[in-house]
Amino acid sequence: MKTRDIAVALAIVAAAAACPGAAVASGRFEAGKGQFTLDGKPFTIKAAELHYPRIPRPYWEQRIQMCKALGMNTICLYVFWNAHESEPGKFDFTGQNDLREFVKLCQKNGMKVILRPGPYVCAEWEMGGLPWWLLKDKDIRLREGDPRFLQAVDRFEKEVAAQVGDLTVDKGGPILMVQVENEYGSYGTDKPYVSAIRDMLRKYWGKQTVMFQCDWASNFLNNGLDDLIWTMNFGTGTDIDSQFAELRKARPDSPLMCSEYWSGWFDKWGANHETRPAEAMTAGIDEMLSKGISFSLYMTHGGTNWGHWAGANSPGYAPDVTSYDYDAPINEAGRPTPKYYMLRDVLSRYAEEELPGVPDTIPSAAIPAFALTEAAPLMQNMPDAIVTDRPMPMEELGQGFGSALYRTLIPEEGADSLITEGVHDFAIVSVNGRKAGTIDRRIGQTSLALPATQKGDTLDIFVEATGRINFGRAIKDYKGLTGDVTLSKGGRRIEPQQWETYLYPDDKALFDTYGYMPVTGPDYPAGVYRGTFIVPEEAAGADTFLDFSTWGKGLVYVNGHALGRIWNIGPQQTLYTPGCWLKAGENEISVLDVLGPREPRVQGLAAPILDRVTAGSEDTELDGVPQDAVMAAEYILKYGNGWSELELPEGAKGRYLYIEILSGNSLEESSVAEIHLRDSKGERVGREQWKSLGSDSSNTAENHGVTKAFDQQESTYWESAPGHDYPHLIAVDLGRVTDASAVELLPRTESGAPGSPTHVRIYLR
Ligand code: GLA
Repeated sequence: MKTRDIAVALAIVAAAAACPGAAVASGRFEAGKGQFTLDGKPFTIKAAELHYPRIPRPYWEQRIQMCKALGMNTICLYVFWNAHESEPGKFDFTGQNDLREFVKLCQKNGMKVILRPGPYVCAEWEMGGLPWWLLKDKDIRLREGDPRFLQAVDRFEKEVAAQVGDLTVDKGGPILMVQVENEYGSYGTDKPYVSAIRDMLRKYWGKQTVMFQCDWASNFLNNGLDDLIWTMNFGTGTDIDSQFAELRKARPDSPLMCSEYWSGWFDKWGANHETRPAEAMTAGIDEMLSKGISFSLYMTHGGTNWGHWAGANSPGYAPDVTSYDYDAPINEAGRPTPKYYMLRDVLSRYAEEELPGVPDTIPSAAIPAFALTEAAPLMQNMPDAIVTDRPMPMEELGQGFGSALYRTLIPEEGADSLITEGVHDFAIVSVNGRKAGTIDRRIGQTSLALPATQKGDTLDIFVEATGRINFGRAIKDYKGLTGDVTLSKGGRRIEPQQWETYLYPDDKALFDTYGYMPVTGPDYPAGVYRGTFIVPEEAAGADTFLDFSTWGKGLVYVNGHALGRIWNIGPQQTLYTPGCWLKAGENEISVLDVLGPREPRVQGLAAPILDRVTAGSEDTELDGVPQDAVMAAEYILKYGNGWSELELPEGAKGRYLYIEILSGNSLEESSVAEIHLRDSKGERVGREQWKSLGSDSSNTAENHGVTKAFDQQESTYWESAPGHDYPHLIAVDLGRVTDASAVELLPRTESGAPGSPTHVRIYLR
């Protein structure tokens, strides 16, 4: 096929655009033979990914100029549906959401734009950009050809096009091309659905707008549509030629583009801060440019997941932190890092003109420690109860974000433990107002031992929601109590029949109506704390990083701006507080802390703390394969990039999978990027329930724990800890007994597949 068809189609479009009488044709962007062209001349896209809602609006232009001074010629951006349509049909494209203004600022600064309007975007953003209210319809099928989903998407895409549809290059604007869906291959295979999204975008953007779809080298053919351009996403360190090998075969004449070249990576609560080496990142860009390959650097400046907008990764549940610094060349506060200067050196070699000077940045300042002097305990500011015969998720009760308290009475028999798989995402359990413990979905907790109870005692389960999953099949992520709750007494199970639910939405205006009293101590209850702090005249306009290391878990608001989530487990301990949202003199702060602070004090630091984990997520150290595990197969593998499929004998099954690695292509560390299991029908088994069972050793100091081998990200990997010899072992709890016909293994995607296993034994138990 088909490349030719595209070329022909584009030629026709180009001819139409050149026609007198057509809309003012001031630019022509095309996918030519082996390269993109702009007005007939070869054009290598050097795009910087930036997300306007993640940047304070007053700083938009500074960030765009930073990208230009870095040597980029384009800004690539997502449009987050849920930020724009908070209620069905109620759109907001103003203030932080002013997409049109952002695109115009790009143009004003001589930058082209690539627009990625989803509807799904992933992006470590709440629910991958989908609005939570879709979940009110319990059996809605997201990202599929469900008319309820498609109708909602249509309304949104129509609105996006109404905002910026007249800003495409052919109409004199900066928008070069528009993306259809996002990495659909990591979700499923469904060309009719992807086609429906394409058709919708065509309807609103017209035939002349160049459209593309992005995916991974390993799966782009599954959903590739003939009339779209195909681009690849991959990260720092990857072997670039191998990433384009399949595309070159399928479409020898296609322009090549890495539509997401990951400069760094995102952080999750309770896991170490992620970084990626600058040398490898810049070498990749250099290589791509030397080969005429276009790219978008994701992220060039990550910014911040303000308020409740951070998403969560899956399999398992790994909520993302507030900072989206991403170890990107331009840090969260808009300043150049050493990576920035290294990259600028590379890009300046490929620039047609001398690069503009690096713009001024916003200074940062410390603010002396101050106390929050008033508190409104949550238990003294309860809303009216909703009475139901089962605990209901928040969405069913009309709430999108925040917390809910579920209350029931201990039955006749009493209870000694509480069992539930349905805590989304963090519960504080108390009996008669005394805290019994917490249940944390992130670490797979599903039960809690209760203190001695008797009939009529009040059991409270206060559930706080963190971000909805933004990746994989688990994006339909209800919040609150989402499943049955069982009490147990001496092994006998009892299900309470009546519940009272009290809703605590994430709503600053509501918090302001609470009854406050002076903070005393020495204990500080869960509640909203508020106070004021003084920004000295000399620090006016400067950014600061408010330090919450003495607080528990919750949300922060400063002068009415929702700064984001805090959680003492780290790695993030400070919140970026932009100077443009502060003023000289008195400023207001409110902190919702669902655990209660250790000390209700805050100070502003001149630099962030993004890398201090206080509660680990280490892998359990295993001594070897347990005696009762059955060896299913043994393989000698060739090393190199790409998947290996290891067939298992008929009848193989088990709940626990052990992969013993007896040797590898590296004498030291062993590594595995991804594992899949095929069931007896040969289908890949869903990995939503998989958990790490442990390893002989894991390099968790550099974030290479076992979960990285089934996080659906080919660019992240499990690695044994330095100084540990073969044999290595990784073990996975599959969540249920599973029939297995094959194990698939993917080594690291870097050239030469470092650490790839060459002799493995597979066991099941
Ligand atoms: C994928 C997605 C992005 C983002 C990155 C990881 O490439 O398309 O939205 O989630 O992964 O940061």
